[in-house]
Amino acid sequence: MSNTNNQNASHEWQTENMTFVLFGATGDLAKRKLFPALYNLYVDNKLPTTLSIVCLGRGDYCDTDFLTKVEDALTRFSRRTIEPQTLQKFLSAFRYCKFDATNEDSYRHLNELIQSREQQLSLPENRLFYLSVAPTLIERIATGLDASGINHTAGWKRLIVEKPFGNDLKSAQQLNKTLSQFFHDDEVYRIDHFLGKPIVQNLTSLVSRNPVFNSLLTHENIANVQITAFETVGVETRAEFYDEVGALLDMVQNHLLQLVMMTALHLPEQATAQEIRAKKVAIMKAIRSISKEDVAREVVRGQYEAGTISNESVLGYKEEPGVSTISTTDTYFAARLYIDNAHWKDIPFYIRTGKRTTSKSTKIVIEFKTETDTPNLLVIDIGPHQGLSLTINVKNPTTKQFEPATLTFQSSTENEPEAYELLLFDACVGNATFFANWQELELSWQWIQPILETFQQNTVPLAPYIAGSNGPIEATELIQQQQFTWW
Ligand code: BG6
Repeated sequence: MSNTNNQNASHEWQTENMTFVLFGATGDLAKRKLFPALYNLYVDNKLPTTLSIVCLGRGDYCDTDFLTKVEDALTRFSRRTIEPQTLQKFLSAFRYCKFDATNEDSYRHLNELIQSREQQLSLPENRLFYLSVAPTLIERIATGLDASGINHTAGWKRLIVEKPFGNDLKSAQQLNKTLSQFFHDDEVYRIDHFLGKPIVQNLTSLVSRNPVFNSLLTHENIANVQITAFETVGVETRAEFYDEVGALLDMVQNHLLQLVMMTALHLPEQATAQEIRAKKVAIMKAIRSISKEDVAREVVRGQYEAGTISNESVLGYKEEPGVSTISTTDTYFAARLYIDNAHWKDIPFYIRTGKRTTSKSTKIVIEFKTETDTPNLLVIDIGPHQGLSLTINVKNPTTKQFEPATLTFQSSTENEPEAYELLLFDACVGNATFFANWQELELSWQWIQPILETFQQNTVPLAPYIAGSNGPIEATELIQQQQFTWW
């Protein structure tokens, strides 16, 4: 039995034989991300030698029918081609169990199934529970796991919880309180898949391994930091969920604030998980709060209107199936924030995210101070392609004019592990470094709360933008107030 999160970064993580219990196994995330991640970990020999995978959903399937669904998901979404023999061995670990989170009998059946598989396979009682379910069911399931004794194991237990963790500060606190009755904080893995993206995990070593960056990324040199997460997709088939949360809760409260923390970290290369978490908490504490009165000045809330993306006409948000025709949900968000610590004091961070923008792009741009027109830029591309570039000014020998030139490193993304693979592996071995801890999450909710209230009370304008653009004009004006421009 191992525990867990206090190890040194250089520690070799070991897998132990275990049971993986997946709640929400018939859902979209399981199909697109979790099954392919498990399969690819299996192919890479990164799963425990003996593993029992128990899949739970509301549907009535026999094992054979369910396995056909898993196979279909792998064929469609795995980054690797499926090899029939490997697939058969992989699938032999799976069992399906119809499950109703509100029904006591369901927990009893589940307990029996877990135990009978443990006996059959001589597994220790190491149990990893993955809750890929509607947020309203999380507390119910945690309570049920406890009441039925499923989480009283002789081995270790861990609980992975998908976002959103709560829907405001109070509900997040309540959720945490409930979970803490049944799971120790070290056992709760709050997943944020942006923290699983390889280049995000390597941000800190980028600085520690390259003295040149260390001397560049100083308080004196940096003019501003810009973090963008743009997508071409709209609300897709998720209107019921998305219309309740909007970009603020879907992307900012978790992903963007995590990117802010990861960008602002300064760590020695051998930082431990605990050091990283402590620094992230310190950064969250140092983020200047935006009062309700200041929201209109520091934040832009936008919503897409009909437009064209890649030569195809797309609907406006309010015309999307399932969205209320008078919805004021934000599909775009931009803000200026400050981290009041010695390194980042008075350097603005501009963050923005939007659906139905020109292109899919997630990136961090660090703009350096300059006297010339084109500033030096350090660009960290997070997705869809990972890479790094540095823009410098070079004199054109013919025109004798200075022109920007870009030094680029593009990571070969072919067959690179996906975020969910890295994070699932970490959870299997008990490494919580790249999961959100409660303190940073609570602080991020505290920062979000006044903004959320102004959105809910509709006291800040909702800026329209055309689908296929880079967002509302108000976002451009926000950054221009300080004579900067979005990159
Ligand atoms: C999810 C959001 O967490 O992240 C989605 O719920 C969004 O709305 C997605 O599309 C973006 O993730 P990625 O990895 O595709 O940039």
